[in-house]
Amino acid sequence: MTTNAGSRDTIEALLREGRRFEPSPQFAAGANAQPGIYAEAESDYLAFWKSWADKLEWSQPYERVLDWNEPFAQWFVGGKLNASVNALDRHVAAGRGGRVAYYYEGEPGDRRAITYEELLRDVCRFANALRSLGVKRGDRVALYMPMIPELPVAMLACARIGAPHSAIFGGFSADSIVDRVNDAQCVAIVTADQGWRRGKHVPLKATVDAALAHTPSIRHCIVARRVGEPVAMRAGRDLWWDDAVAGQATMCEPEPMDSEALLYLLYTSGTTAKPKGIMHTTAGYLTGVTATHDLVFDLKDDDVYWCAADIGWVTGHSYIVYGPLCNGATSIIYEGTPDFPDRDRLWEIVERYKATILYTAPTAIRTFMKWGVDYVRKHDLSSLRVLGSVGEPINPEAWMWYYENVGGGRCPVVDTWWQTETGAIMIAPLPGITTLKPGSATKPFPGVQADVVDEQGNSVPLGGGGYAVLRRPWPSMLRGIYGDPERYKETYWSKFPHMYLAGDGCSRDEEGDYWFMGRIDDVMNVSGHRISTAEVESALVDHAAVAEAAAVGKLDAVTGQAICAFVSLRGMDTGSPALADELRAHVAAKLGKFTMPKYITFTQELPKTRSGKIMRRLLRDIAEGRMLGDTTTLADSSVVTELQERAKQEAAKDA
Ligand code: WTA
Repeated sequence: MTTNAGSRDTIEALLREGRRFEPSPQFAAGANAQPGIYAEAESDYLAFWKSWADKLEWSQPYERVLDWNEPFAQWFVGGKLNASVNALDRHVAAGRGGRVAYYYEGEPGDRRAITYEELLRDVCRFANALRSLGVKRGDRVALYMPMIPELPVAMLACARIGAPHSAIFGGFSADSIVDRVNDAQCVAIVTADQGWRRGKHVPLKATVDAALAHTPSIRHCIVARRVGEPVAMRAGRDLWWDDAVAGQATMCEPEPMDSEALLYLLYTSGTTAKPKGIMHTTAGYLTGVTATHDLVFDLKDDDVYWCAADIGWVTGHSYIVYGPLCNGATSIIYEGTPDFPDRDRLWEIVERYKATILYTAPTAIRTFMKWGVDYVRKHDLSSLRVLGSVGEPINPEAWMWYYENVGGGRCPVVDTWWQTETGAIMIAPLPGITTLKPGSATKPFPGVQADVVDEQGNSVPLGGGGYAVLRRPWPSMLRGIYGDPERYKETYWSKFPHMYLAGDGCSRDEEGDYWFMGRIDDVMNVSGHRISTAEVESALVDHAAVAEAAAVGKLDAVTGQAICAFVSLRGMDTGSPALADELRAHVAAKLGKFTMPKYITFTQELPKTRSGKIMRRLLRDIAEGRMLGDTTTLADSSVVTELQERAKQEAAKDA
């Protein structure tokens, strides 16, 4: 088995990583999770999850914990509840309405503290606005928004009226919006005039306008004012957020939703060019995110919690919006980039709000390492007590740097492995219990049964590596791929019987701790963004000059992987730096800037097997400058030497 993330050498180096960190006795004594939790959950995993579901507020109790008709799960069957009520109303009803839900900080420096009471009022007004536009229970609503308070408000307003939301990350292009909106047949889209990014304006509404020429299902476009510059508004279709909520009541009757009602869709890349609409439903999802947010971060009443992800991805859905709000937490939301106006912005924010928990991504940590520790040292980070990592494997050096320089050697680092599909954290330390090992996500969460299996689906003995799988249903699991149950079965449940295939390679050490190695399929992970090779390839081939293209992930010191494209052109064209830039711009326009190939190597011919399959593994070896293994299956071996030379030249531009 090979993985995108690493060769044997890296895997072995990781497994030799010997450092370990026990929880301090004080932390352990006060921790939410106590050591008995694993055995207790294992003795009856349904009872374990039930205990968390029972902390939610139900408008009608459920009858059964689980109906499992593999691979289709129904959790908390027969119950009714509303996600926005669980996130907001019940805290207000309990007299905690004055508590801060979000400290909001915009990139330009604007700040707001939003209480639970205020958030509930804003959600109700927007929910009423949606209803008065005719958006009803079951309708899908697209959200293409910057990190402004209106984004969680819109999500919760949708949840309140039973209209599933489909958030589309603000870095996506118009074409990507079109695909997602049309797949779900969304009836409305919520956006903003523009967003702020590194001091510049991001033209969100203009991008939506380009998309809406091709999305016949959209009837309304609601535009939040963020930057304030004029944008085109089409009469009858577009309206300003402020106008939509003007005069709306601050109370809004929530829809009682079935446990299994669709809460949201979130599209993610798979092995084909068509993104998958991952379906998350209500009760099980809320159960999963509240349990994990409480136990993995050891959430306490006086914590100031900060997940620095974008709400447009699953991490933001689960650990900025639904998990923290359902737990009544006080969180920070920051709109912009970590280097605006300077490279200490994150640390300034930690200091200002006395953040106690920080959850970010390895790519960010490696960027901070590159910028140097002085930016960190400028600020008082003594409020921090737990650090989290998510999105990609964290290399031990980055883990140690985070632990020592950000955490001052006193904060447990919880490396959390999970996916859009799992909805919630699946494998992670529990900070008062687990012995931490830099680079390891350690153990499955209580109630979760994970395993590492070989090509035949046999459990690999401790000390070995293979495919990461999950062996039993869990409440926040995806319920399917929107409109495509066959693809759901095929992608996740067909390789091995009775196992959910995560698509990650993983090793387990002698103590049963998990060490994730990266994807085993044709999905790249660039700065924690999942990008399919097929999507990048089809965007490249869409350009008139391109005959054929192959994209692979190449190890990158900062972004984890970088996209490396091999392109053969039509006719006699041999390519040029100008054409490479044109292709990058083309991919950016088709998919979004974050999917632009860092390296483009032109070639007359792509290496193929005799049956005509592009040899990606070989291309990966070439991209990473490795010695090539067996090339006997190659149809024409002369292409390889030339490619190696060209890829080397392309990589040399880095230095
Ligand atoms: C990778 C993000 C190693 C993995 C929550 C997974 C990780 C994919 C980790 C999901 C981690 C996420 N260690 N790898 N702690 N967390 N991954 O859907 O390859 O954007 O399959 O969800 O990210 O990415 P997604």
